[in-house]
Amino acid sequence: MALDGDIDRILFTEEQISKRVSELASLISDDFAATADSPSPPVVIGVATGAFLFLADLVRKVKVPLYVDFIRAESYGCGTKSNGAPRISLALKVDVQDKHVIVVEDIVDTGNTLASLISLLKSKGASSISVCTLLDKPARRKVDFQLVGEGKFYCGFECPDHFVVGYGLDFAELYRNLPYVGVLKPEIYK
Ligand code: IMP
Repeated sequence: MALDGDIDRILFTEEQISKRVSELASLISDDFAATADSPSPPVVIGVATGAFLFLADLVRKVKVPLYVDFIRAESYGCGTKSNGAPRISLALKVDVQDKHVIVVEDIVDTGNTLASLISLLKSKGASSISVCTLLDKPARRKVDFQLVGEGKFYCGFECPDHFVVGYGLDFAELYRNLPYVGVLKPEIYK
């Protein structure tokens, strides 16, 4: 099975991603500089599995102390369309009560996952909720999400309305290990 052979075209190269991740990390470092001496560092929460590479690369470049935790969210199963009701398992190890939270996502598509996640984290008492997503597909938004408190929205790249894989993003749990983001050939999932 050839990984690259299933890709129609590359949208964001490894180099472009690396440069953008550095820029995002620098923005986050500046915005959270004031928390560097605080007794409660921000909590970076990665949405597994898709955000695992992005989160790993991002936090290595952020210059303030932070907690890292993961939650699991799934709305696609083995298809390419969100079923609108994400399954979220919020088994956090870090208590987010009165802490600044930065949710790290691979892609915001309909917005369902983020809206559910933000309301769950808000109910756990987070003092602010920011979102850092590698990709945003605004053309497919169905649900608006509200950041909490002083929360900010950080976005790597705006993504055209295609099904993309690589750099953590999957189709049926495959292609996550591609170092770039590319458009999957439609014949693979049709
Ligand atoms: P939403 O709830 O519709 O915003 O979907 C968010 C989740 O759907 C993301 O975290 C991804 O796991 C998945 N997703 C959305 N678009 C794509 C895509 O183009 N490729 C791979 N996964 C995607």
